[in-house]
Amino acid sequence: MSKQTVLTGITTTGTPHLGNYVGAIRPAIEASHAAGVNAYYFLADYHALVKNQDPEILRHSSLEVAATWLALGLDTDESVFYRQSDVPEIVELNWIISSVTAKGLMNRAHAYKAAVAENEAASNRDPDKGVTMALFSYPVLMTADILMFNASKVPVGKDQIQHVEMARDIAQRFNHIYGEVFVLPEAVVDAKAAVLSGLDGRKMSKSYNNTIPLFAPSKKLRKLIMKIKTNSLEPGDTKDPDDSTLFDIYKAFASDEETEAYRQKLLEGVGWGDAKQELFEYLDAHLADAREEYNKLIADPAHVENELQKGAVRAREQSSILIAKVRKAVGICRLA
Ligand code: TRP
Repeated sequence: MSKQTVLTGITTTGTPHLGNYVGAIRPAIEASHAAGVNAYYFLADYHALVKNQDPEILRHSSLEVAATWLALGLDTDESVFYRQSDVPEIVELNWIISSVTAKGLMNRAHAYKAAVAENEAASNRDPDKGVTMALFSYPVLMTADILMFNASKVPVGKDQIQHVEMARDIAQRFNHIYGEVFVLPEAVVDAKAAVLSGLDGRKMSKSYNNTIPLFAPSKKLRKLIMKIKTNSLEPGDTKDPDDSTLFDIYKAFASDEETEAYRQKLLEGVGWGDAKQELFEYLDAHLADAREEYNKLIADPAHVENELQKGAVRAREQSSILIAKVRKAVGICRLA
């Protein structure tokens, strides 16, 4: 039986946080160990350009994201770990498939629609104000990422399901016109992956500015945990674990038994300050080894770069074959 290809991209905007870890990184690393799976994980740095035009931040974020995955034990022999921009065939494919992509399909993309809706709500005369071509055609590039490696399963968050469906549509359209070239991908949303709440109780997300960096130094980690929003219940009052960000985060890391013990404490009225201290101590200990490894990697970008280059070589072994097939299918080829 041939192996199934699982692929996902990580946009290199910002520092990975606890929510990224439990929602995406941890399940992806686990999945990479499964038998019968070829895992392709990459830094989506061209996608990051859409939102970030500060070169220094973009560069540093690529280092942080790569170091995070490596520090958490991603095995780069077992999986292919690369940077999108190191695989030029992806942008080439992006152009070719854009010629079979209906503009109307892109008009329906959530991110684009949200930008237009915002302009309309603000009564801007131009509904496309601030919308770049890159934002508009973001799903096409994502499609190229996916189709390039014959991925059949694409683990993503809920917000990205639509993009994977678009990739499937585009692949089908291409196959219909030119013959079977692409594998049709499917989004997989991990129902078990926790969606963490952030400092203010809303979903932990960079866009809400409520994140806790995964590898924040101890002192900073403690400070942030102390900032997590709680209610005004006093020590001695029973706290509802199911309505507590502290419990939510604790549960995402701890074993069932430890979680149960923490739940009991909340029910028995532990003070919020003590509950925070306990969460801090747990996370600090739990993340210590990976954090140490992360700090080493951040201080050694050459090592991280080496890993990415190794991935790029392996990725291009595949992408060069696929792009040759695609070029031939569409009639872009040498004359003799
Ligand atoms: N757009 C995805 C996100 O923001 C990142 C991404 C880029 C991606 N290319 C991809 C995810 C291909 C899966 C497959 O999360």
